[in-house]
Amino acid sequence: MEDKKPASAIETFQEDVKVYPPPAEFAAQANAKPDIYDVELETFWDQQAKERVTWFKPYEKVLEWELPYAKWYVGGEVNICYNCVDRHVENGKGDKVAYYWEGEPVGERRVITYKDLQDDVVRLANGLKKIGVKKGTHCGIYVAMVPELPVLMLALARIGAPFTVVFAGFSPDSLADRFNDMEVEYVFSQNEGWRGGKRLPLKANVDEALKLVPTVKHQVVYKRTDGEVPMQEGRDLWWHDVIAGQSADPKSCPCEPLDAEHMFYLLYTSGTTAKPKGIMHTTGGYLVGTATTHHYIFDIKPDDVYWCAADIGWVTGHSYIVVGPLNNCTTGVIYEGTPNFPNAERWWDIIERYKVNILYTAPTAIRAHMKWGPQHAAKHDLTSLRLLGSVGEPINPEAWEWYHEHIGARRCPIVDTWWQTETGMILLTPLPGITTLKPGSATKPFPGVKAEVVNDKGETVGLGGGGYLVLKSPWPAMLRGIYRAPERYLSTYWSRFPGMYFAGDGARTDRDGDFWLMGRVDDVMNVSGHRISTIEVESALVDHKKVAEAAVCGRADALTGQAIVAFVSLKGGEMGSVELLHELREHVAKKIGAIAKPANIVFTPDLPKTRSGKIMRRLLRDVAENRPLGDTTTLADSTVVSEIKTRAETAAKEDEG
Ligand code: WTA
Repeated sequence: MEDKKPASAIETFQEDVKVYPPPAEFAAQANAKPDIYDVELETFWDQQAKERVTWFKPYEKVLEWELPYAKWYVGGEVNICYNCVDRHVENGKGDKVAYYWEGEPVGERRVITYKDLQDDVVRLANGLKKIGVKKGTHCGIYVAMVPELPVLMLALARIGAPFTVVFAGFSPDSLADRFNDMEVEYVFSQNEGWRGGKRLPLKANVDEALKLVPTVKHQVVYKRTDGEVPMQEGRDLWWHDVIAGQSADPKSCPCEPLDAEHMFYLLYTSGTTAKPKGIMHTTGGYLVGTATTHHYIFDIKPDDVYWCAADIGWVTGHSYIVVGPLNNCTTGVIYEGTPNFPNAERWWDIIERYKVNILYTAPTAIRAHMKWGPQHAAKHDLTSLRLLGSVGEPINPEAWEWYHEHIGARRCPIVDTWWQTETGMILLTPLPGITTLKPGSATKPFPGVKAEVVNDKGETVGLGGGGYLVLKSPWPAMLRGIYRAPERYLSTYWSRFPGMYFAGDGARTDRDGDFWLMGRVDDVMNVSGHRISTIEVESALVDHKKVAEAAVCGRADALTGQAIVAFVSLKGGEMGSVELLHELREHVAKKIGAIAKPANIVFTPDLPKTRSGKIMRRLLRDVAENRPLGDTTTLADSTVVSEIKTRAETAAKEDEG
């Protein structure tokens, strides 16, 4: 007899899970009401665009969808800076706090109102115009978590100059790759940054990178510390000199009316090749998408204090520290440093000080706090909190329960939000006050989002089935392509399952239709919520003069979600050593950034290969996870893998020792 239900592509196990229905008091005051799910896609996004955003010129059409290219708010003209800053001041909200900023050194604080933000943005935008930045000028940013970073992003949005922010943990080589791909003409940096009590040499990294980037005219340097840095005559300019004497009058530098599809920014992210992809985001749809999701998912009220503890160098910071919250005239918190500087109470001290109502963070941070223990949070008054959020990787139920109990006092709903650099906005999420929560599940698609789980053939597997997460309809903040790589855009996202956006994640739905994410199904690892491709790390290793071949995979790690394991064979039969291990880890840090350093390196004379020469990663993953080995019959030389297993076991013991 034929089975009508398409087969699941990934085997899943249904377990009994705890459920948390929405608290009645929360539901009564929630921004989202159950009928939010009833509206039709274009009607919904038309309403949101009109309600939340001020348009200089109204759009003629909500959506033009020629798969896989979407245009949103066709013909409309808009400016993100105007929506995030100027109109709030015009509406009498100038005295409202836009950001409470905490520097990492204890006691360094700044309170920035919307009027302050406008003054800073206008002065900087005027200064930038003076040095030649125009609509369409490409800019590269390597500024860490200081208020000047959102000020800069807004000033560039005001002018219409697209930018790319590179996370301050990336190395000079990675910077150079990104700046060259975007052909940036202006670069923004900081003399030094603070991280974990140490000084980050940000300008020195940019100087190193700029040796490889011929298109750069000027580097503008923000002076954050008293650290001295050399300035290259003619090229390098101090930020304070650029803004000196500039007018803060908004009329002196009006917000440029930009087409809704004007490029806002590129953000580079790892894919399945060694070259990061420049994900393209535009203006109108991105603004509406981030503002709308921010309003409903975080249940934002006018007096809320909201803290997204991500880094602005990642998409989470772009969408949910800068654009969505400022568009919604929210009061936010920005913290510069690490969560345990000078001690593990820092976050809870910040929450108590500013009476934070909403906290949005990542599972890896929650697990770090779990490790340090609940006593640090217990010393602080966290009763201001009313809602918690999570993003970046699947949150394991233990971490969810810990967050719920020790931070949320069992009172605060938790929104587990699934999305990507590519999606620009949250797509799978509970709506607080409506959705019954299940620890570990991102629950339901946001209104208007058509997400499904399909098998290898692209057939919907239906409730209870596992497979690949796909999206079947467009959404306003979606990527518009990969910069200068249209073929790669098609092949990465739209070819595996024709007509559907393939997210690269495995997922299952349960009997209630709730989504459970199961991690990446491609060669992308997720370390502390950072996407790193196996191939990028392999290329960095092979770049070292002693390395002949390398294969990299992720293994489960209690703290970072996944940890990187590298299998390396050396040239000329050379032997591995502890010194070489350190050298290789540093080499990867230099090529990519410290976040990509392998946790373990296993030196091995050979890698397991099929007879056609393909490295069998599946076996390496089994070794890395210390699992019994799967089928080895297709190996060219089956002794290789047992040798590797022995070596991996001794390497693991040395690590512990
Ligand atoms: C993973 C971060 C499970 C997923 C906003 C995705 C998640 C990748 C979740 C995107 C979640 C993000 N549950 N997995 N709530 N959120 N992911 O581009 O694998 O840095 O594809 O964007 O993180 O990472 P990115």
